[in-house]
Amino acid sequence: MVLLRMVAVTAASALALSAPVGVNAQNDTSAANDAQTGQEIEIDVLLARMTREEKIGQLVQRMGGRSKALNSRLGPEELDRVRRGEVGSYLHVAGADPLRELQRVAVEESRLGIPLLFSMDVVHGYRTIFPVPIAMAASWDPEVAREHAEIAAREASAAGLHWTFAPMVDIARDPRWGRIVEGSGEDAYLGSRMAEAQVRGFQGSDLSAPDTIVAGTKHFGAYGAAEGGRDYAGAELGERSLRETYLAPFRAAAEAGTASYMTAFNAVDGVPTTGNAALLRDMLRGEWDWDGLVLSDWRAVEELMAHGVAADRSGAAALALRAGVDMDMVADIYADDLAAAIEADPSLEPLLDQAVRRILKVKQDLGLFADPYRYHDTAREKAVMLSPEHREAARRSAANSLVLLKNEGVLPLIRDAQRIALVGALADDALSQLGSWRARGEEADVVTLKAALEARHGGVTYVRGADTRSDDTSGIAEAVRAAENADVIVAALGEDFDWSGEARSRSSLELPGKQRELFTGLEATGKPIVVVLMGGRPLAIPEIAESADAVLASWLLGVEAGPAIVDALFGFTNPGGKLPVSFPRSTGQIPVNYDHLPSGRPADPDLSKDTARYMDVEITPQYAFGHGLSYSSFDYGDIRLSGARIPASGGRIAIAVDVTNSGKVAGDEVVQLYVRDPVASVSRPVKQLRGFARVALAPGERRTVTFTLSPEQLALWNAGGKWAIEPGRIEVMVGSASDDIRARSAFEIIGEGRGRMAPAAIPTRVEVSGQKR
Ligand code: NOJ
Repeated sequence: MVLLRMVAVTAASALALSAPVGVNAQNDTSAANDAQTGQEIEIDVLLARMTREEKIGQLVQRMGGRSKALNSRLGPEELDRVRRGEVGSYLHVAGADPLRELQRVAVEESRLGIPLLFSMDVVHGYRTIFPVPIAMAASWDPEVAREHAEIAAREASAAGLHWTFAPMVDIARDPRWGRIVEGSGEDAYLGSRMAEAQVRGFQGSDLSAPDTIVAGTKHFGAYGAAEGGRDYAGAELGERSLRETYLAPFRAAAEAGTASYMTAFNAVDGVPTTGNAALLRDMLRGEWDWDGLVLSDWRAVEELMAHGVAADRSGAAALALRAGVDMDMVADIYADDLAAAIEADPSLEPLLDQAVRRILKVKQDLGLFADPYRYHDTAREKAVMLSPEHREAARRSAANSLVLLKNEGVLPLIRDAQRIALVGALADDALSQLGSWRARGEEADVVTLKAALEARHGGVTYVRGADTRSDDTSGIAEAVRAAENADVIVAALGEDFDWSGEARSRSSLELPGKQRELFTGLEATGKPIVVVLMGGRPLAIPEIAESADAVLASWLLGVEAGPAIVDALFGFTNPGGKLPVSFPRSTGQIPVNYDHLPSGRPADPDLSKDTARYMDVEITPQYAFGHGLSYSSFDYGDIRLSGARIPASGGRIAIAVDVTNSGKVAGDEVVQLYVRDPVASVSRPVKQLRGFARVALAPGERRTVTFTLSPEQLALWNAGGKWAIEPGRIEVMVGSASDDIRARSAFEIIGEGRGRMAPAAIPTRVEVSGQKR
């Protein structure tokens, strides 16, 4: 039986629960009565009273509208479905009042009065839009991710929502994939920390609190490994990289208590995840011992037919249910075809019950049986949206997400003296700063770079110059003229919001439109040029990397984009973000992730040798994972280890390093710990992130960062299909970027041991201490 938080079931409610089904076939609202008397329900008792149709109804998620037309489908016919108990959840709905009414129909007018679950993609903010997730990952500060999720949950729950389809934790190493914008980049360790932080932010410590919501961690499987970066395409990868890399953030989310997962659309090694019992039932529910709610992605159950693993709708329903998919998002396959599947194969019946239990359990954990209206408080809804504190948090996170890719002395700008030519359509594009998935974010809420710069500086001339979408070059001459009359050029270049996101794959990572031509024209003026690089993915920008005087990656930063960028340009803040994903030199260079395997013939720039490199492009990325400059500089001391050897089981090693701000201004440094296992039973990556700390340092200040590792964080998925800790030497590297290692050391693991889970899913303990100099 499902474990329940059974608060006193009073005689009255026990009676109601045991009343025979069908006494009042029209309106036997016992669960609603429980709700009204504030009683908890016992899930198995309720289950026993449900008809098969009502059970299937719980597995059905319908759309209340489209993502941009919320609630638009909630007409009389839809309400009748609710009355008949044919719906368990809605997505793309919002609003305390309309959802209270929808909930009322479910609770008061359906036979069993089971409350509905309301859901939406609240991915980087509800009304207060924060930086896109890839940008938040660039902060290398899990607190940024946690705080954003907490605020998003506060706003979304005030609008009647219970459940978000976030965090998106898919590892992405191919920037052609447009959905790279929604996740935390290429690395399993950084991705895991961002995943767990967001789960904690959304769910808080008590799901039944009125300001927390269920996290829907997605897209379970290896969606980010879609072949060629083509959205929805299959992933061809081995079990080791699936387990160690792609699934690690999902495991971290499970450890943080995610109450739900969404399955990926695509297939892994030919098996579509939505019908993959080995992944969903055996691994997730079995090995990981996780018992939450699994939801399919949009029509993914139906798409099992297109994938060619189900012949018809009832076959697709059976396959998905058997795999462990509890709820069917909008395909209505469970609604229309699961009953037939169960008739044909009665062994599905207990699986139906399991799925219903999990859904009811989430409703119970949210407190919906105790009070189905707890998320419908219009006064709270008005008060919390885009509150000054939320805006302030959005500004902090935008500031923390900036990555200074290059600076040859032009930044920070002189605060008053200069005439600035601001160029580029993106500088004045408010909508783009909201990024992919803007929930209830409004264009009018955004302060653009143009608005913020003009507000702060007297001498700004703005010219669009060129667009991100058209081939029109007619504006370039005017931009060049403005540049000629200025002391410095600030060029906002990159991708608008609609170049990245779902189904926004690109075959080329070059600047879209005629922005390259614009840059070339500006550059020819000889004036100092600062490129503010916007967009949701790494771009291949060799000319800019070569010729711009400074490059500031500003992604798409949400409602406070402009002020955050301007603060950094003038040095009121100091950029301290680092890249969560490598920037390639050219599209053909991908994948260019830092944690690749060694080669038998390591790349050698000497073209007369046959090694693992391209003939026409350097082997290094343009900007490596972990790269990010500062207006200050940081010195690293040597690594101090707590010992030279640790036992494979139960051992611990402390790795300490001193970091000093050797520059003239305060700044943040992200201290990064990498490890390498040079000889093992299987080839190991040349470097793997196993710890990091974003440390704020005043000029001259020194701090000691101590990472404590356990051998299970060095485990590998061995040839026998087990997590194994192998004996031998482990190299340790600490640095400022994956390609800027400042100190090295090594220790030895003695004996063998067993790992518990993907090592990247396990957080390293980090302490920052030290004194002011
Ligand atoms: C499809 C997307 O893949 C998924 O991320 C999203 O949550 C659903 N649509 C619902 O909007």
